[in-house]
Parts: sequence; structure tokens; C-alpha cells
Amino acid sequence: MILTLDELSRRGALRGKRVFIRSDLNVPCDDAGAITDDTRIRASLPAIRMALDAGAAVMVTSHLGRPVEGEPKPRDSLAPVAARMAQLLGRAVPLARDWVDGVTIFPGELKLLENCRINRGERQDSEELSRRLASLCDVYVNDAFGTAHRAEATTHGIARFAALACAGPLLAAELEALGRAFEHPKRPLVAIIGGAKVSTKLGLLGNLARKVDRLIVGGGIANTFLLAEGFRVGKSLAEPDLVHECTKVLRTLADKGATLPLPLDVVTATEASAKAFATLRRADDVRPDEMILDVGPATSRALEHVIDEGATIIWNGPLGMYEFDAFAQGTHQLALAVASATARGAYSIAGGGETLAAIEKFGVAPSISYMSTGGGAFLEFLEGRPLPAVAVLQERARAGQSKIG
Ligand code: 3PG
Repeated sequence: MILTLDELSRRGALRGKRVFIRSDLNVPCDDAGAITDDTRIRASLPAIRMALDAGAAVMVTSHLGRPVEGEPKPRDSLAPVAARMAQLLGRAVPLARDWVDGVTIFPGELKLLENCRINRGERQDSEELSRRLASLCDVYVNDAFGTAHRAEATTHGIARFAALACAGPLLAAELEALGRAFEHPKRPLVAIIGGAKVSTKLGLLGNLARKVDRLIVGGGIANTFLLAEGFRVGKSLAEPDLVHECTKVLRTLADKGATLPLPLDVVTATEASAKAFATLRRADDVRPDEMILDVGPATSRALEHVIDEGATIIWNGPLGMYEFDAFAQGTHQLALAVASATARGAYSIAGGGETLAAIEKFGVAPSISYMSTGGGAFLEFLEGRPLPAVAVLQERARAGQSKIG
């Protein structure tokens, strides 16, 4: 069990205290530096409001991108985030630069602390930096699920040395949702994993194969599974050298009576572009000069059936090049199927930038039970890897909040 900000707030333990919140405000920005999706800023507000309402002096920091430590560039600044946060909160959000050596702040005040990855030692989880950060606050709050897979000074080291270390409401909600979907799911458990390469999701596919009842694969990953089953995939994105890994996954699933439904029909083209001419083919009839860019309607119907039977559905990755209308049908039908299974009582959780973008595009966001703010962290959790930012909070809780180290 992890200590939560909510619990400290209910105990009245935040009044007059300096609270340091690590959020994940790593939002996408366009070339002019304008924020193109503020979901993560919105998701960070409940923790900030909770701490302010409880009478704390509130400091919030985050990384933005991957800057070079000690060499801040204008594009690394959280200034656009401060401006958006100020609009959303309806109050000024001053941005503090050079904050490591001290922050002047009083109860009821809120300050955003400039990009924490500019500080030397952040990415290496430096003990010296972590101790200094811990001395800035009475309570450390990790609310950055999207960065929970990183052991850095603001996500991990500081939690060892702060007087109190707890999880914010977003981190707590993410862990609750993932636990419900993956640690004690209602069955059948269906996972949908799309994406370009088996190589980047090997550990994930292996772990899922051991846990799920149905594994749906899409994109380049599905093409490599098609190769493993003896199909020809033409010029499609695939990794022939990983066919044996796909065979292992298929064997693990088969040994426990679980299945991986492969595409029955596919949409192909000779180029991957918005203008490409789309052709519907049986999965065993892909021509040498073609690439598979989507699944066909017969596959969609089969997947709909699989999803319809699911009691828990985990979704990461599209089935095709859904950005282009000619290759969007498979992902669109999948989104509708997940939404209607959820409406009938299944629990659904989706994560990853492309997946959330597809869910938005097809207008089913309100019908998904939980949309995770994590990309890499979401996948590492599903892969069964410990998240260092969560592990340290668990350790603090086990140690009765005594500092570690
Ligand atoms: C993300 O966008 O996935 C998180 O903010 C983590 O960013 P990172 O991969 O740069 O650590």
C-alpha cells in the first residue's frame, strides 16, 4: 500500500507544508512551441488543487522533452505549460528558474519549477541532487505516471529522502486501473497490441501471452505473426528474424488454450501514403509488390466477436495506418467494438499516444473505461517490469515512511 496525497489531505497533514509535486507535463508542442494536446496538463490539476485546497505551498515540476543537462534552450522551457495551466486554473502560475538551491513560497501559493531535466544529475538519479530536492519540501508527491518507468532524481531519488513521500491522485488512479485490468482482471482478458515492430514489444508480448485469454495483434507486429504462420506478406513491414519469437508466443498461448486471431483479409497498397490505391485481399493472397496497411472487413467482424466476449480489454496500438482514410477501417471498427463491449459491462483500458489519438479520432473516448496518460510506463507495467517511481513509494510505505538511504 502506498501513502496517497488524498490521505494526507484528509488527515489535515498538508496545512502550511511545502509540497513538491512531480507531474508529467511532457506535452506535445508544434514547431512554434505551441501545445498541441493539453491532456497531461489537465490530468495534473486534481493533485495541484488538492494540495492548494489543503493549505499547502505548492511547487510543481516536470520534464519537457530530453534536454541536455546544464544547457537549457528556449524550446526546453515549461513557459507554455505555465501559461496553459494558468488558463485552466484561472490563477497566475509563476515559473521559477534556477530553483534547485531554494524556492521562496508561502502557503496558498503555486509555482511551476522549470524543466527538471535541465538540472545536472536528474537523469542519473544523482543522490546529491535528490537530497537537495528533498530539502525543498515537507511532502513529495509523485503524480507522474507517464514517467514512472524512469529512475531519475525527481521521480525516484527525491522519494528516498523527502520527509514524506506519497502518490498523487493521477498516479493512484493509473495504478488502480492497471491493477484492475491486469493483476486481477475479470476474464476473458483480451489484449490488443498494435505497432510497427515485434522487436520493441518482445517482452510485452511474452508477458501478455502468459496472462491473457485472447491476444489481438496489429500493424507490423501482425505481419511478423503472419510470416510465422507461413503467409507471404510482400513488402509489408515485418521482422523475419523474429519469426521464432512469434512462434514462441503462439506456443505459450496454445499451451494454455488461449488464442491469437490472425487477419483473414487485409487491405494492401503498393505505397504507404494518403493517395495510395487500396486493395482488399485474402490474407494468403498478398502480392510481392504490396504492403499490408490495414485489416479487412472479415477480420474486423471476427475481432468484434472476440472483443465482444471479453470482460476486460487492454488496448495499445492501432491495427493499420489509421491516419489515412483508406486504411482506417480496421482501427475504426476496433474502436467501436471496444466501446460497445464497454457499454455492455466490460472494463476497458487504453494507453499510448497513437491509441489515444485513434480513440479521439473515432469519437469513442467517453466509452472507454480508463485512458492512461502513460506511453512507455503503460507498456512497461504490462511487460511486468517494476516501475521505479512506484517501487520507491512502496518501499517508503513498508518502511513506515522512514527515509531510505
Ligand atoms: C512520455 O512522454 O512517455 C513520458 O513523458 C516519458 O518521457 P521520456 O521517454 O523522455 O522519459
